Amino acid sequence: MVAKGDVFGPNQPLVLHLLDIPPMMGVLEGVVMELADCALPLLHGVIPTDDPAVAFKDVSAAFLVGAMPRKQGMERKDLLSANVKIFKVQGEALDKYAKKDVKVLVVGNPANTNALVCSKYAPSIPKENFTAMTRLDQNRAQAQIAQKVGVPVGNVTNVIIWGNHSSTQFPDASHASVNIAGRDMKATEAVKDDNWMRSVFVETVQKRGAAVIAARKMSSAMSAAKAACDHMRDWFLGTSSGKFVSMGVISDGSYGSPKDVIFSFPVTTRDGKWQIVQGLSVDDFAKKMLAATGKELEEEKLEAMSVIEA
Ligand code: LMR
Repeated sequence: MVAKGDVFGPNQPLVLHLLDIPPMMGVLEGVVMELADCALPLLHGVIPTDDPAVAFKDVSAAFLVGAMPRKQGMERKDLLSANVKIFKVQGEALDKYAKKDVKVLVVGNPANTNALVCSKYAPSIPKENFTAMTRLDQNRAQAQIAQKVGVPVGNVTNVIIWGNHSSTQFPDASHASVNIAGRDMKATEAVKDDNWMRSVFVETVQKRGAAVIAARKMSSAMSAAKAACDHMRDWFLGTSSGKFVSMGVISDGSYGSPKDVIFSFPVTTRDGKWQIVQGLSVDDFAKKMLAATGKELEEEKLEAMSVIEA
C-alpha cells in the first residue's frame, strides 16, 4: 500500500527502509524479492536491515509495527514490560538518525504508551510528531454503524475514538454523520437506538481486536495495515473540510483528559500538522468513559516508566 502510492500520493517516489531482528533477515530477503516482483513504479529503493542506525537514517515517516503481539486471553497491558523497552531503543535511534520532522506512527501495543516512551527518548524531535494508531478502532466503529444502518461504510463520517487503543477506549458516534440517499443526517437519528450506541456498539469496538485474535489465533493484520496507511495518509495529505479523524496524540488536557499521555482525540490535519477538534459537546456518559480510559493511560505511563527505570 505504501509503495503503491496509497499513503504519500500517486506522484511521490519513495525508498522503503525495512527493519527486523537478525533471525528474520532471510525472510526479509523474500519480502524484498516480492517488492521487486510487484514492479511498483514509485518504489525507488528498498533497504532491508537489522541495524537501527541504517533503518532510521534520514527517514521522513516511520511505521513502528515491531512488538510482541497480543495472544488470546492477554490484555494489551500484559505486553507492557515486553514492549516498552523496544520503543525506548527505537526512540533513541530516531533521535540520532531520523529527520527532525519525521512523523512517527506507533502500531505495536500498548501503542499509546509505546509512543510516549518513544517520544521521551527522542527529545530532539517535537512531541507532536509521535502518534499512536486508533484509526483501526475508528474504521471498526464506522463499519459497525454502517452495518447497523445498512449503508456503505464510506457514508459514515466523524465517528470518534477517545483515549487508549485498548478495551477502555470510548468509541463515540454522537457527533457522527450518516449519508442516506444523498442526505447527511446525525448517526444518532439514523441508528435510532441510544441504548445500542452506548452498549453493543461501544463493546463491539472495544473488544474487536480480541474477537479477531480468537477467530484467527493471531492478531489483526490486514485491517491494521490499512488503518496505519489511512492514519499516515491523512497526516501527510490532510483531512477534508468538515471531516475529522482519530489519532493518539500528546494530550494538552483537552476534554478533561490527563496531560502528557498519548490520548486519542478527534483531529483535523493540514500541512502535515494535526489539531485537536475543540468545542464538541460531552455528556455525562462520555465524561465517565473519558475518565476511565484516561485513568488507564496514566497507570500505563507509571508502569512503563517503572519497567524502563528498573
Ligand atoms: C487490534 O486491535 O486488533 C490489535 O491492536 C491487536 C490487539 O491486541 O487487539
